[in-house]
Amino acid sequence: MMNFDQHKTRGFDFHNPVRIRFGVGCLEEIREITKGYHVILLTTPGFSRRGVVERVKKLIGPALIEVVDTIGPNPELDNLERTARMLQHLSIDMIVALGGGSVIDTAKAMSVMLSRDLETFSLRSHLENDALELDGVGIPVVAVPTTAGTGSEVTPFATVWDSVSMRKYSLTGSQVFPHIALLDPELTLSLPREVTIVTGLDTISHAFESVWNRNANSLTILLATEALRIGLPTLKSLPDALDDIGLRSRMLWASTLAGLAISQTRTALAHSISYPLTMHYGMPHGLACSFTLPSILCFNAKADDGRLEELALTLGFTTVEALNISLQELFQGLGVSKMLREYIRTVEQLEDLVPDMFTRGRSDNNMHQADYDDLVDLGGIIQA
Ligand SMILES: [Fe+2]
Repeated sequence: MMNFDQHKTRGFDFHNPVRIRFGVGCLEEIREITKGYHVILLTTPGFSRRGVVERVKKLIGPALIEVVDTIGPNPELDNLERTARMLQHLSIDMIVALGGGSVIDTAKAMSVMLSRDLETFSLRSHLENDALELDGVGIPVVAVPTTAGTGSEVTPFATVWDSVSMRKYSLTGSQVFPHIALLDPELTLSLPREVTIVTGLDTISHAFESVWNRNANSLTILLATEALRIGLPTLKSLPDALDDIGLRSRMLWASTLAGLAISQTRTALAHSISYPLTMHYGMPHGLACSFTLPSILCFNAKADDGRLEELALTLGFTTVEALNISLQELFQGLGVSKMLREYIRTVEQLEDLVPDMFTRGRSDNNMHQADYDDLVDLGGIIQA
């Protein structure tokens, strides 16, 4: 086993330009942030119904020129292009995204498209041709997450789905970073139990995936480890205390830390496995990218260069195995297997999708390369 301490002094680059504002009640700052801009607000029908949109509209005041409150889960390529064409006649110079990862990812795609001439730029051909990463300046996005979470408010990626070709794309580049992440834990208080669990699982997955990532460095590991130190016990308690603003704050902070970590490393095998499950069975992202974590932890432990052992020790466990047992107990308490069976009934359903579970730039980030049989084994958790 290589001593991981050697990696700690290895050179690396860390770039994240997102201004982070965190604190209970900081949503009020949207008034100052948007003053003097021409703002479009993107959100979901749910937030409109719950009255949050009315509050945000009042805060933004005359700067608000349009509200799109029809953003659904898992942004579809065709819908994104249609929405951009609908909005292109407006002179927008700021986008406020109020919602979960899908709303924030939609805002990122709008930022890219609306800062370009749509006569010559096609998001579809950009993604289909594996075009270069986007740099330059897009329309500034103010990301106001209402889940904890995807961490999308601090990452330079947007996930885009195409149900026609059954493909998932990642819009990537420094231009895709939001301008500001406005993190107000109060906004997560209204999240139902199951969404709280599933989005929390996404956070846990980001943190693990960043640690066992080939692109990990000492700073990303620090962030991801702290995300797990806070996130694991919080996710255990939160489902029984959904109104606890302290726990909500901790979960949102863990989500942001994990987001900062993956903003540099990207994700790895668990996410790679998840995409066809979401595409074919509509499995929520946070569930699809987390149910394999104990199996992948076990798989990666076989190739540990010391980082997993150190992670376990830092989190207060004597071994990686003890950490894994604790993770399995957490999943059992949260009802992960039960949720999984709502979408997948047989191991064969998983096995059929294994060839699609190798996503370039994700599965190959994993510190221990997995092949077809490894993935079939990892899917065995469905039997648990
Ligand atoms: Fe994720």
